[in-house]
Amino acid sequence: MVKTTITVIKADIGSVAGHVMPHEDVIKTVEEHVSKGASEGVIIDYRVFHVGDDIFILMTHDKGTDNPDVHGLAWEAFKKGAEVAKELGLYAAGQDLLKDAFSGNVRGMGPGVAEMEIEERPAEPFVVFGADKTEPGAFNLPLFKIFADPFNTAGLVIDPRLHVGFKFEVYDIIENKRVIMSTPEEMYDLLALIGHPGRYVIKRVYHKNEKLGIAAVVSTEKLNFIAGKYVGKDDPVAIVRAQSGFPAVGEILEAFTIPHIVSGFMRGSHRGPLVPVPLRYAKVSRFDGPPRVVALGFNVKNGRLIGPVDLFDDVAFDEVRRRALMITDILRAHGPFEPEVLPLEEMEYTTLPKVLEALKDRRENIE
Ligand code: F6R
Ligand code: MG
Ligand code: MG
Repeated sequence: MVKTTITVIKADIGSVAGHVMPHEDVIKTVEEHVSKGASEGVIIDYRVFHVGDDIFILMTHDKGTDNPDVHGLAWEAFKKGAEVAKELGLYAAGQDLLKDAFSGNVRGMGPGVAEMEIEERPAEPFVVFGADKTEPGAFNLPLFKIFADPFNTAGLVIDPRLHVGFKFEVYDIIENKRVIMSTPEEMYDLLALIGHPGRYVIKRVYHKNEKLGIAAVVSTEKLNFIAGKYVGKDDPVAIVRAQSGFPAVGEILEAFTIPHIVSGFMRGSHRGPLVPVPLRYAKVSRFDGPPRVVALGFNVKNGRLIGPVDLFDDVAFDEVRRRALMITDILRAHGPFEPEVLPLEEMEYTTLPKVLEALKDRRENIE
């Protein structure tokens, strides 16, 4: 059986008119470099797309995860793109390229990465989710629904291949620990963690049938304390395998129909609904949001990509989008009050220490 690695590496290297979307010349430059890598045999196939101000490079190859050549190719492509972004004077040009020299893989260097090595099934469908103005924990709720909620995924109840359940690898980003939990047995314990997506983040999901192996992976890079400093939210990407023993594509997409409320709206310090959108709505303007997610469906055959299908480009998601905009209005009306603003410890910006300092002499003990 063919072993194929699916790698998505993403970065925000600058955008036009604030944090709205990249410039076409930047995307073209990134794409040209990746295409050169494909013709030189570093990778087999690729696609480049953007969601809001983040550029995503999807690559397939046979070199396994964390491969220096593959990561190096994406790093160089982003470097070249960032040069163009700087020439054009784009906003936040090069912002996610935190280091000067490449040292083997992009982890800890700014870009986000989601990758999985799989044994290709005769037909191998998968979905790539790219999100902007949110954080990796935004995928906690949908991944739980996809792989553990029988009200979402009918296959958990009626397909003998899914009935055994799935395992979840969860990161604690404060204590830098990970744990693997098994559903349905540990479902309540799992929820006790992942219901707090600012701290506990689903990194991977595995099929309990080891022959099928990995089911999903999420980028979590910036959640680590890069250089000892919490650098906060990072617009995430996820890869989810579908069909024949995994949830159906329709079950995977169904998890995005609430729409659930996530962190990352305006200044990374507010909450908004995660709006499922087609690529044509992947520019992000209102109040630097609301957070949104694109779903691209592919098949892979001997490393060759077939697709994408722009999966949220379906009239059946119109009502979800309408509901999301209603929720946006209600949250926005809260302005500086929670739950529109995040709890203090999750704010990317705050003036509170200064305000308290200025009030120092006026603050009295309450008797
Ligand atoms: C960036 C983002 C934006 C910025 C905001 C302020 O992805 O979420 O909401 O935080 O536009 O940006 P600065 O501080 O760069 O002016
Ligand atoms: Mg940005
Ligand atoms: Mg972004």
